[in-house]
Amino acid sequence: MGSFADRLNAVATESEALLARLLGDTPLAGETARPERLVAAMRHAVLGGGKRLRPFLVVESAALFGAGREGALLAGCALELLHCYSLVHDDLPAMDNDDLRRGQPTVHKAYDEATAILAGDALLTLAFDILSREDVHADAGVRIALVRELARASGLGGMAGGQMLDLSAEGRFAPKRSLSENEIITLQAMKTGALLRFACRAGAILGQANAEQIMAVEHYGAAIGEAFQIADDLLDVESDAATLGKAAGKDAEAGKATLVAALGIDGARARLNHLIDSADSALAPFGAKADTLRAAARFVAARRN
Ligand code: IPE
Ligand code: IPE
Ligand code: MG
Ligand code: MG
Ligand code: MG
Repeated sequence: MGSFADRLNAVATESEALLARLLGDTPLAGETARPERLVAAMRHAVLGGGKRLRPFLVVESAALFGAGREGALLAGCALELLHCYSLVHDDLPAMDNDDLRRGQPTVHKAYDEATAILAGDALLTLAFDILSREDVHADAGVRIALVRELARASGLGGMAGGQMLDLSAEGRFAPKRSLSENEIITLQAMKTGALLRFACRAGAILGQANAEQIMAVEHYGAAIGEAFQIADDLLDVESDAATLGKAAGKDAEAGKATLVAALGIDGARARLNHLIDSADSALAPFGAKADTLRAAARFVAARRN
């Protein structure tokens, strides 16, 4: 089966090669040309960095249900492109205003703001192009389900909606009020949790799992989704830019609504540990076959970047 680190590295390596191919400069059918500056900015946003945790979750969740690895990897890379778009826009001056991402200048620093906005737009739309391809799954019904679920996970009621709540909570648009613990949990389930939940569900959809099985991976995905943002917010307080490859210590200054701010470091860590236990229990129906996903939950909590 291989160690968790070996399996994660294998998906990261395969994803890197596939993403590089997907971001080639030859126009596809229906495209006229691929402007050089835009392709270069998209490659800057996507290639040569990132843990590739989302593709990994798609591949491992798919493996649980016996779905083909190639299709899962392609669906995982579609999700990774969408995730990279969310980072490019998250870093823009109008949003979190960050200069460093994955140890490199952010796209608007390496290029310019207009190019970064367009690179994000083109990554977002490319994700759906890829999910619709026959290589993802032979059954068009499965592909439509993935397209719809990713649209919902990334849009108004998912990541983009969560980003709106995140910026609103800073007090940018109306006088600041502090959010309740439940409001913070909702905001984070949207901005970060939705894409991670989708990653887990996508594998089950590809494997044409039954409703009960999909529900079990959904519970797992929701737990690691929440855990992931708590870990990110703890790292913002406890780590540094050299380790993270992105700025640290910015959330408190920006007035971000985080569970670290609401519960303190110890309270947030206790909740994080509790979520890892919940993720573990959600996988009970799958027995030892789900050990890699169990290890992924522990990785989310213990990660250093
Ligand atoms: C960072 O995501 C953004 C959040 C949702 C907190 P990752 O920590 O997965 O970033 P990469 O892809 O590994 O750079
Ligand atoms: C980002 O949350 C969530 C996204 C949808 C991109 P953060 O703003 O905390 O992510 P980082 O810390 O910049 O990676
Ligand atoms: Mg942000
Ligand atoms: Mg940010
Ligand atoms: Mg952060």
